[in-house]
Amino acid sequence: MTPTRTSSTLDLIDLHPGAADLRRLVRAGLMQQPKQLPAWLLYDAEGSRLFAEICQQPEYTLTRTEIRLLEQQAETIAAAVGPGVMVEFGIGNARKVDPLLRALRPSAFIALDISRSALTDALSGLASSHPDTSMLGVCCDHSVLAAMPSHPWLDNQRRIGFFPGSSLGNFSPEAAVELLQRFRHLLAGGPLLLGLDQPRDPRQLEAAYDDAAGISAAFARNLLHRLNRELNGTIDVDQFDYRARWDEREQRIEMALISRIDQSFTLEDQHWSFQANERLITEHSVKYTPAAAADLAARAGWTIRERWHDPADQLSLHLLEPSD
Ligand code: AVI
Repeated sequence: MTPTRTSSTLDLIDLHPGAADLRRLVRAGLMQQPKQLPAWLLYDAEGSRLFAEICQQPEYTLTRTEIRLLEQQAETIAAAVGPGVMVEFGIGNARKVDPLLRALRPSAFIALDISRSALTDALSGLASSHPDTSMLGVCCDHSVLAAMPSHPWLDNQRRIGFFPGSSLGNFSPEAAVELLQRFRHLLAGGPLLLGLDQPRDPRQLEAAYDDAAGISAAFARNLLHRLNRELNGTIDVDQFDYRARWDEREQRIEMALISRIDQSFTLEDQHWSFQANERLITEHSVKYTPAAAADLAARAGWTIRERWHDPADQLSLHLLEPSD
């Protein structure tokens, strides 16, 4: 594929990721017991806006803590990871990668994201504050990407992966292992800097995922609005309550919409019913102790070499290197 050159230091490779088959995903999810939909369906335009608002809520400290940790430790992290080009899986909050780019001064920053507009917006913003770093966007679904595309800024360079935000926590442990194996393959021997949130007081965690302003609840309910919009649905969204509950055994927060009553609705002429108190799981957020993170990493062929954490030791940045 010929890259679209947008400026001398900004390039975009569009691998044209296929649009999700929402109808099929929803059908499969609503036939499960308990009913559950893939968490990434939460992120349509309104969902992404609401998630950015969650990150500002006083109860949800994850984003702010990670940014502070990256800002404070950027030089130490840069020394530990060594030279190379940086590869971020999913273009997240530019404030996270910014201190690393400042400290590492890589020749290129490569961001992989499914949204072309998110890539171009984020990279053009970063390009102006990092004139010595070439910015390459790869529009793709990195969870199924078989190989990195070829590009002069990337070929034959040591690759340093970056996957912050505890995004891995939204995958089941099996899917998380698969994703870490994929990253290992895509980074071709290079290290991975992985941000993971840790277990703590369940009351604190439940408040973080069910904030007093109701933004987390609106974020989950938006999924039902999305189904109504995109699948011509008849869901009465007000007949669902939102709940975030800590599951000690699984070490995760379960976020769910709970049906207030026995009810039924249609989505593209297909009938679905919920009993009173039945739940639709919208998302899990697994929290990893350092030991659990090391175990997960080992299952995917990685070894944790270093760990940096915030003063309260609630969030870790792990430096992973291939085990062999
Ligand atoms: C994106 N991800 C890491 C968030 C989390 O903390 O699990 C998603 C989230 N959902 C509700 N609040 C935050």
